[in-house]
Amino acid sequence: MGSNVFFSVKLAEDHRSVVMLDQRRLPAHKEYRNFYSASEVAEAIRKMVVRGAPVIGVAAGFGIAVEAQRLLNCEDKESYRKDLKLACDLLEQSRPTAVNLSWVVKRMRKLLSVEYDSEEALASALIEEASLIASEDVAINYRIAKLGNQLIPQKANILHLCNTGALATVDWGTALGVIRMGHVSGKEIHVWVCETRPRLQGARLTTWELQQQSIPMTLIVDSAAGYLMQMKKVDLCLVGADRVASNGDTANKIGTYTMACLARLHDIPFYIVTPLSSIDTDILSGEEIQIEERVSDEILRPSGESLIASETTSVYNPAFDITPASFISGFVTEVGILQPPFTLQVLDKLKKEYQS
Ligand code: MRU
Repeated sequence: MGSNVFFSVKLAEDHRSVVMLDQRRLPAHKEYRNFYSASEVAEAIRKMVVRGAPVIGVAAGFGIAVEAQRLLNCEDKESYRKDLKLACDLLEQSRPTAVNLSWVVKRMRKLLSVEYDSEEALASALIEEASLIASEDVAINYRIAKLGNQLIPQKANILHLCNTGALATVDWGTALGVIRMGHVSGKEIHVWVCETRPRLQGARLTTWELQQQSIPMTLIVDSAAGYLMQMKKVDLCLVGADRVASNGDTANKIGTYTMACLARLHDIPFYIVTPLSSIDTDILSGEEIQIEERVSDEILRPSGESLIASETTSVYNPAFDITPASFISGFVTEVGILQPPFTLQVLDKLKKEYQS
């Protein structure tokens, strides 16, 4: 389905490591690295070797699979399941905001309470489940891309934040997947790419992906978004999600809320493109979402080296914000486009219609 010249994450053929494209080194270097244990994978997620809600979930699943394989070599089989549960805890806690991590870990954990004939059989089941989660991700994103394409006019200037493409998923991506499908289907699309301070996922990753797909785009500083809207140069805003609460409040990359407010002010459609795995039905509203706070150096040293303000400067660096449901025109999911009012009942109805 996809035709990228890269992959974001995969399980090595011998099942002994997780292979990830180190997104911190893009676009200058395309470097794949192997991670051999759950703790190495958790560290890679924390340090953002891979980032983006769906792909960190998939990486965590592979991390558990690799750990299951690794622990087979340990002599003490008594603690096999106990150690795997600890590995699940570690991966689940590697980043706090995207719910995909706990969604995947929950699926993997279920297998730990099933009776298997041997530890080898359990390890095989975990490998199979992690691989299934990865292939489902591709199919889900492809479906989202097809559905979301309905929202794109024949000619459109689309505003996008962060990176939601094949790098942030296993393939296709969410918001960028919709954009890619629109382009592939012959629409005249141009993307305004917000650079996405402070880690510059837009500048470093989204431009890289769009260039490979020959999709016309222009890089802007985040604060140019309002001006472009005022100049009537934005037809549609498409972004992803890290966690959506039951009432539709959405956590996504810092700056999403600002973009949503501006879109509302200028009467521009603002859509969240998200798989159901990013919807957290256990929480009622955005108030319950933990917002990750990252280190000050991300702001003080944007290129990783020279300081742009004195080292003693007080810094606040929330990685995400919450956009209230009332600012969102709709959610593009794999079961359909969810329009307001956002309730779990409406979502269930969409799911049932999709399944029948
Ligand atoms: O901090 P990041 O780069 O992991 O944040 C990623 C985002 O906020 C994305 O918009 C979100 O995960 C959706 S990706 C399909």
